Amino acid sequence: MEKCGQLYEGKAKKVFATEDKDLVIVSYKDDATALDGQKKGTIVGKGAINNRMSNHLMKMLGEKGVKTHFVEELTDRETVVKKVSIIPLEVIVRNVAAGSFSKRYGVEEGTSFASPTIEFSYKDDSLHDPLINTYHAIALNLATRQEIEEIKDMAFKINEELKKYFLELNVKLIDFKLEFGKTSTGEIVLADEISPDTCRFWDSNTNEKLDKDRFRRDMGNVEEAYAEMMKRVFGVM
Ligand code: TMP
Ligand code: ASP
Repeated sequence: MEKCGQLYEGKAKKVFATEDKDLVIVSYKDDATALDGQKKGTIVGKGAINNRMSNHLMKMLGEKGVKTHFVEELTDRETVVKKVSIIPLEVIVRNVAAGSFSKRYGVEEGTSFASPTIEFSYKDDSLHDPLINTYHAIALNLATRQEIEEIKDMAFKINEELKKYFLELNVKLIDFKLEFGKTSTGEIVLADEISPDTCRFWDSNTNEKLDKDRFRRDMGNVEEAYAEMMKRVFGVM
């Protein structure tokens, strides 16, 4: 499959058209941003790691009955996926308090929840991705009530599968962000990526952070953390 024209360039990926109107090619960059794009940097090797890890996880989820956009990995950085219209909601699932949850509710980072939580943000950098409740999302025609129910069910199922998967690699899945899209036939599928950019991964013995928080918080050893996650998922790089 060949890339035709570029359709879109986001903060971490580019999207290209293909000769098939229902398929696009995503190309992962090493660019990293935080704070709605205000903080910019490079994480060397990140594009390839996120591409390969996300594909691996989506394949695994597909085998467990989760519909995803994944079609075929082309190269280290490039993957064919179904063309979807992205539902402009960031779907955040949390198992342990961290990040904005800890700040908003004054709950210490690392506090386990009695049960997993979910929240939605309206995907708009210029508004700083504000939290949005499902009534607002329906009122704004971002998704229907049925679609939101389906997305919630999928997100919690994905959480259960990923939690189990990562625990075997000695990694605690603290929280993560998902995006969903609608195909040309109206099917809701998991889209975007699942990677150290979009998940919080803590080592289960030491609680060492193995994800993009090292970049967001200027903690150093960013590349090393991504490489460590790659090693745990694939055995060797
Ligand atoms: P938060 O605690 O900052 O709201 O982040 C929750 C999860 O979502 C965390 O795993 C990181 C991920 N995330 C993204 O993937 N993109 C974003 O723009 C933000 C703010 C968080
Ligand atoms: N996607 C966010 C941004 O660039 C970064 C993050 O993951 O915190 O604003």
